[in-house]
Amino acid sequence: MHQRKGIGAKLMECSLNELKDINALGCVLLGDPRYYSRFGFKAEESLVFPGVPSEYFQAILFSGVLPKGEVTYHESFYDQG
Ligand SMILES: CC(C)(COP(=O)(O)OP(=O)(O)OC[C@H]1O[C@@H](n2cnc3c(N)ncnc32)[C@H](O)[C@@H]1OP(=O)(O)O)[C@@H](O)C(=O)NCCC(=O)NCCS
Repeated sequence: MHQRKGIGAKLMECSLNELKDINALGCVLLGDPRYYSRFGFKAEESLVFPGVPSEYFQAILFSGVLPKGEVTYHESFYDQG
């Protein structure tokens, strides 16, 4: 059992820092809002990911203005088979 030892938080911290290092403006994810809200993620009405309950699709903005529209993931995230 390796949950609740801070591994998830560390992975999130490293990932968000890497995104900031490459000057990403922000990040979106699909996950449990009860967990990801602690990192600053929240559901945003202006960003839509179809097919999932809206509260599970969350965003964090590092700088600039939050974009509006429908989000698609990079094709590498989809089944190629
Ligand atoms: C959710 C997950 C990534 C967290 O990783 P972790 O290494 O256990 O996380 P941390 O040790 O950094 O943090 C643990 C904290 O997160 C909380 N937590 C874990 N999963 C949670 C959830 N689904 N909802 C709310 N809180 C959650 C724990 O209660 C704990 O809270 P505390 O700090 O107040 O004690 C991991 O438990 C996991 O992969 N779980 C299975 C998949 C899952 O449930 N995913 C949900 C998100 S998509």
